Amino acid sequence: MAARQIFLGNNNFVCRKLVQKQRLFSTNAAAAAVATANPTTTTASTATHNDTKNHSKPRPELYIQGSETHFGFESVGVEEKEGRVRQVFESVSDSYDVMNDLMSGGLHRYWKDTLLDMSAVESMAQAVRFRQQQHQQQNQSMDPSTNQLRILDVAGGTGDVAFRFVDAAGLSSSKQKQPWSMAGESQTQNQPSSSISVTVCDINKEMLRVGEARARERFGNQLLEGGDSAPLSFVQGNAQSLQFSDNSFDLYTIAFGLRNVTDVDKGLEEAFRVLKPGGRFMCLEFSQVPDPILRQIYDTYSFHVIPAMGELVANDRASYQYLVESIRKFSNQQELLDRMDAVGFQLTKYTNLTGGIVAIHEGWKPII
Ligand SMILES: C[S@@+](CC[C@H](N)C(=O)[O-])C[C@H]1O[C@@H](n2cnc3c(N)ncnc32)[C@H](O)[C@@H]1O
Repeated sequence: MAARQIFLGNNNFVCRKLVQKQRLFSTNAAAAAVATANPTTTTASTATHNDTKNHSKPRPELYIQGSETHFGFESVGVEEKEGRVRQVFESVSDSYDVMNDLMSGGLHRYWKDTLLDMSAVESMAQAVRFRQQQHQQQNQSMDPSTNQLRILDVAGGTGDVAFRFVDAAGLSSSKQKQPWSMAGESQTQNQPSSSISVTVCDINKEMLRVGEARARERFGNQLLEGGDSAPLSFVQGNAQSLQFSDNSFDLYTIAFGLRNVTDVDKGLEEAFRVLKPGGRFMCLEFSQVPDPILRQIYDTYSFHVIPAMGELVANDRASYQYLVESIRKFSNQQELLDRMDAVGFQLTKYTNLTGGIVAIHEGWKPII
């Protein structure tokens, strides 16, 4: 009941809290729900580091310097990298999900679940539905654009993260969420709602093909009907030059994708551009392990076991060698935070999971 009041009490309570706390962000349902839900999401095994934006900090060195960049430990031309990354994911698409489980011992599920918890998508979707319902009951029309939840999962691949959002938002008929339903309340609140959508965007057709097939198997065809405005859609696109309009999403997520983007700064700029004012950016990515003992164990496992597993299971050692090398070449926790600050995100912070093997970075697009 208390939680219900926090999220749904006319939205004013959360809005007031949010404004007091931030004075920066929109009072849309998404931001409001997140502001209250987020602090409770970290577990004992995670450490949170808050870093408030410091405008006087110099911009970190641009990710792309000159005409060369890296592809794992190899130096390649900037133009070449995108094609090489594409080949990797084309090659691994069919075995991608099995390999994820094997390589991480299932941990990737926990990391993605944590991203989901921290995103507060479930609460945001409930807030949107509740407001819709209130308007329906009072026979009031409402501007649909002010009561939406638009989620974009970039580099979404085979849909693992997006499916969690679909379930949490109650879009899937198999996992209907009814926590707020009371006697007399309309059950139509749990029907797929055009005001809540999840868009999976990935550069790679093969990953999208596998993802869409999984989605049809898991949710049926209904969620995918309606093209780009379907509750769940799969679209091909490049994180560096997204085809979406400015200010169009409430939540942008990217899981294990950012390090594959050739120009990470450009990718972050695009994330900022497509987010609505008050929208939230969340990145789940491999990071750097600060503890030297854990790092040594992790390095030994990564360099000796993962490529061998890739060869055995996917018949593709090279792609998995790239995977472990690309992790080492990617920004550490602080550097990524600085890059996010540099493009304009506010209240940036990261949360280490599993000793920093991965980290969740987040930031908000201000309304002013
Ligand atoms: C390691 S997979 C992650 C997939 C999914 N997010 C997950 O967590 O299971 C990385 C994905 O990034 C995609 N990718 C790489 N470069 C990209 C880019 N520039 N724009 C969009 N997607 C990209 C790949 O095609 C691949 O599907």
